[in-house]
Amino acid sequence: MREVYLDHAATTPPYPEVLKALQESYATIYGNASSLHATGQKARRALEKAREDIAKLIDAEPEEVYITSGGTESDNIALFGTEALYPGQPMITSLIEHEAVLESAKALESKGHPVRFLPVDTNGVVDLNALKAYLEEKPFLVSVMAANNEIGTVQPVKEIAKLAHERGALVHTDAVQAVGKIPINVRELGVDMLSASAHKFYGPKGIGFFYLRKGVKVLPIVQGGGHERGLRSGTENVPGAIAMALALKISTRLFTRTHYRYERWTAQILSKCGEIGGFRLNGHPQQRVPGLLSLSFKRINGEALMELLDMNGVAVSTASACQSHSAKRGYSHVIQSLGIDEEYANGTIRVSLGVENVQEEVDFFCEILKKCVLQLRGYRNGQ
Ligand SMILES: Cc1ncc(COP(=O)(O)O)c(C=O)c1O
Repeated sequence: MREVYLDHAATTPPYPEVLKALQESYATIYGNASSLHATGQKARRALEKAREDIAKLIDAEPEEVYITSGGTESDNIALFGTEALYPGQPMITSLIEHEAVLESAKALESKGHPVRFLPVDTNGVVDLNALKAYLEEKPFLVSVMAANNEIGTVQPVKEIAKLAHERGALVHTDAVQAVGKIPINVRELGVDMLSASAHKFYGPKGIGFFYLRKGVKVLPIVQGGGHERGLRSGTENVPGAIAMALALKISTRLFTRTHYRYERWTAQILSKCGEIGGFRLNGHPQQRVPGLLSLSFKRINGEALMELLDMNGVAVSTASACQSHSAKRGYSHVIQSLGIDEEYANGTIRVSLGVENVQEEVDFFCEILKKCVLQLRGYRNGQ
């Protein structure tokens, strides 16, 4: 059976060049970057080169980039690494964050930090008036994601950072769904901290980075040998860092070409949805990550649609990958926050295109999607 992978917001297949770099570096740059002998120093140089490359791609200084195990760890460093410095002070985040931020924020709440959750409009954009009001409470931190993992809405991070800084708060952005997909420039955004994860931009899993603006103080959340300038102890994953830097370089180079393709395919998919009828596209119509589509179909169940598509060889998801094994409702907290009609919300799937997709796969998906939605509606109506 044909297999069409359209779940790139969950994870991406590494670029062939990345796999090659990973294999080669595991074989030849196996030293411990903290060892003082030549083998160790070779690994150190490779690690620092990867750090420099990553820094350049996001307009940071190399010493502002810390290698971590991925998005979840970077998000945890941002919240738990700062909270102890501001005991009892509130923090602000949004209702539609990834669990890595949401659950961390809830944990901070239990440690005595009041947490304010920003609502979003029907397009999933955070409410800046609510932000202004909550900023009056003198929070120590504002953490708002750069792009949402379920609906693709890109947040006005630059504006958020400006408002937060005027009130003396630190600013963190979970940019896991933005880095490698849209241009990200930390200086322009004006954030103090940023999280990224390599497996979302065709790099390996289990590696990511944390940007920390020079001069901003963050405490380590794990204790150990003081690697990564004391912020992130643990023997450095040098091959992973090399592969991540390469993946980011390639993704950045491919922006224009992939965006053009994704736009064309998005129009094709939406036109097919129009043919099917009774659907809505969630998220902001323009301010969105290219290629990530959250589609809600009236009168069907999103999970049933996802399963039927899977049986037909097409991989999509209902919510974020992390939620699919713990979904408590028929739909996610993100979809719920948009305030859309339940008869649509229940029938939501996320389709996320990737660089390896080809026209025939999109054609195939469109046909199968129509067949599956109509089949589910037919069953429902007892036809
Ligand atoms: C917005 C967002 N933040 C954080 C994460 C977690 O990243 P990782 O899988 O690298 O831990 C994800 C992954 O789905 C994500 O989409």
